[in-house]
Amino acid sequence: MNAPTPLPKAELHVHIEGTLEPEMVFELARRNDIALPHSSVEQLRAKYRFSDLQSFLDIYYANMAVLRTEADFRDLAAAYLRRCAEDGVRHAEIFFDPQAHTKRGVPVRTVIEGLTGAIADSDVSAELILCFLRDESAESAEQVLRAAEPHLDRIIGVGLDSAEVGHPPSKFTEVFRRARALGLRAVAHAGEEGPPGYVTEALDLLGAERIDHGIRALEDPELVARLRRDRVPLTVCPLSNVRLGCFPGLEVHTLPRLLAEDLLVTINSDDPAYFGGHVGENFAAVQRELGVDGEQLRGLAANSFTASFLDEPRKAAYLAEVAACSVE
Ligand code: HPA
Ligand code: ZN
Repeated sequence: MNAPTPLPKAELHVHIEGTLEPEMVFELARRNDIALPHSSVEQLRAKYRFSDLQSFLDIYYANMAVLRTEADFRDLAAAYLRRCAEDGVRHAEIFFDPQAHTKRGVPVRTVIEGLTGAIADSDVSAELILCFLRDESAESAEQVLRAAEPHLDRIIGVGLDSAEVGHPPSKFTEVFRRARALGLRAVAHAGEEGPPGYVTEALDLLGAERIDHGIRALEDPELVARLRRDRVPLTVCPLSNVRLGCFPGLEVHTLPRLLAEDLLVTINSDDPAYFGGHVGENFAAVQRELGVDGEQLRGLAANSFTASFLDEPRKAAYLAEVAACSVE
């Protein structure tokens, strides 16, 4: 029997560096003549037991050292985009972390040319979102935005990621203002480990049009009412939240509460090479563990297009496809 056709969907929260599988770490290390501190793929994968966001980020940034050339970034993105078909992903808005590469001497141009080369060769429509590392300075964010300016036609927006607690959105008010003045869209990670006040700051000070994660918003009823009223999308990543200890298990994830609050929730993978699955596995896991039913899954898939930066005619075409798809 053939596997059922997956629901068409958009992925709005995936870090391209978080799609770097251990096998590719070894392949690129060999290609670039880099010595690794792990003896095998299995030994590296065995280290993927995280207690919180920082414990993940330490290994996420360490593995990136193998990404050096335009071809490396092209191969990385091409592998992700190939995988999209299996999960029904038709459109992806992909985060990348240029500061994690420029600080190792890799120019922004190399990163962007590599990623856009893969996008140009793929059937999946994809856009790039340049993320600022919130645990670096605001000046460093300004610098990377300036360095990216000659390539802005390849970038749809800016985001904010990395270690959240102690690095509030307010630190980046000016650089987001500049990015928006340059015509870029704005999103931000907030309320993953940080307090609901960071979600409010991301909306008020950064002009964030979507909140990445946002799970802690539920602690503030007024914020929940605002998110509902303004239809602010939350890009939720269930397997990531469990692997990083935001919830002790998937069965106690607050996705059902977010849905009951009628928020514009989407389901995403975050860093699929590290957290046990791509977006299709996140959909399957919430169906299995949280009792999310077929019509709710269809709603989540529809939300992913509604919350995307696609133009209205393309959104409408994808939404019609979602409506026509049979769900179990
Ligand atoms: N949170 C913050 N920064 C990140 C993440 C995340 O889940 N993944 C990659 N960078
Ligand atoms: Zn993320």
